[in-house]
Amino acid sequence: MKLDTIIAPIDGDLKKFEVHFRRALRSNVGLVDAVVRYIVKRKGKRIRPALVLLAAAATGGISEGTFRGAALVELLHTATLIHDDVVDDADTRRGWPSINAIWKNKVAVLLGDYVLSRGLLLSLEHNDIAFLRSTSTAVKRMSEGELLQIQKSRQLRNDEETYFQIIGDKTASLLATCCEIGALSATEDPDIVARLRSYGENLGIAFQIRDDILDYTGSATALGKPVGGDLKEKRFTLPLIHAFGKAPSSERKDVLRRLKRGVGRKDIDEIHRFVDRHGGIAFAVKTAEDYRDRAIAQLDLLPDSEAKRSLVDLADFVVSRKK
Ligand code: IPE
Ligand code: IPE
Ligand code: MG
Ligand code: MG
Repeated sequence: MKLDTIIAPIDGDLKKFEVHFRRALRSNVGLVDAVVRYIVKRKGKRIRPALVLLAAAATGGISEGTFRGAALVELLHTATLIHDDVVDDADTRRGWPSINAIWKNKVAVLLGDYVLSRGLLLSLEHNDIAFLRSTSTAVKRMSEGELLQIQKSRQLRNDEETYFQIIGDKTASLLATCCEIGALSATEDPDIVARLRSYGENLGIAFQIRDDILDYTGSATALGKPVGGDLKEKRFTLPLIHAFGKAPSSERKDVLRRLKRGVGRKDIDEIHRFVDRHGGIAFAVKTAEDYRDRAIAQLDLLPDSEAKRSLVDLADFVVSRKK
């Protein structure tokens, strides 16, 4: 199913979210304003604010607090991507030159901090302490996950267990927070909040496995960001970890040699074939689907609603998406 169709029930609410998002970023400093204008024009899929809104709609209803929560998580996500492109030295994002490509790393680092702090201030101004607690946990996990990822790249190895820790921290933590915040804005039932949070965590793991598959199989044009970046950064993601477990040592050594030297187009194609030959892509596809199912199972107890059906469809979208 298309993402537009899935989020159609909250279309009007997402438009309202955009107003909150833009308002939160205003600045009198010309440079900040210029970059902010660039950012608000290049929208992503808006999956995180959609999750906040749908989680609220499915557990009691959207309120003013829900919109602040949606703005908070998208601000945090935006800050993370700005920083991520500095860390990964990526020159495109959302089909356009990245902030670091245009304004250089210095501006990108500081602007990422600016965007994050505006999100935190927005919540603080309204005393959304529970939102701040959840978000701060996510920020801590995201930085730790990124750092663990760098540690494993430097060691030129990874295993499944550590891989799941990395993607749980760097990606699923924020999606868990989105669903938790949405539910917190709509219900006081701690069990429902916990289930929504768990839906988000499992969804996030499925989401990042799909992202890691697309780094092999995806199109840079469709994604609007570079592919093959994970190999360039010497990252062992699930497809490669699985292939390493299956391949003979001579083939493993060849791949390690290429990674150590730094990969070019030809190496990326060669390693992609290696991964495919040993079932790495198929295994990752299957694993993402397992996490999708775990996510959906968390919704069992919710009464049927349009929003609940969208959450189910969103889980399907996440594991089949091409962008
Ligand atoms: C990209 O997230 C970062 C990852 C966690 C892989 P999205 O794919 O949701 O990015 P946008 O917001 O749609 O650009
Ligand atoms: C995900 O990591 C980004 C964060 C969760 C911070 P990636 O580096 O794989 O994300 P993309 O592929 O650049 O969007
Ligand atoms: Mg990146
Ligand atoms: Mg990626």
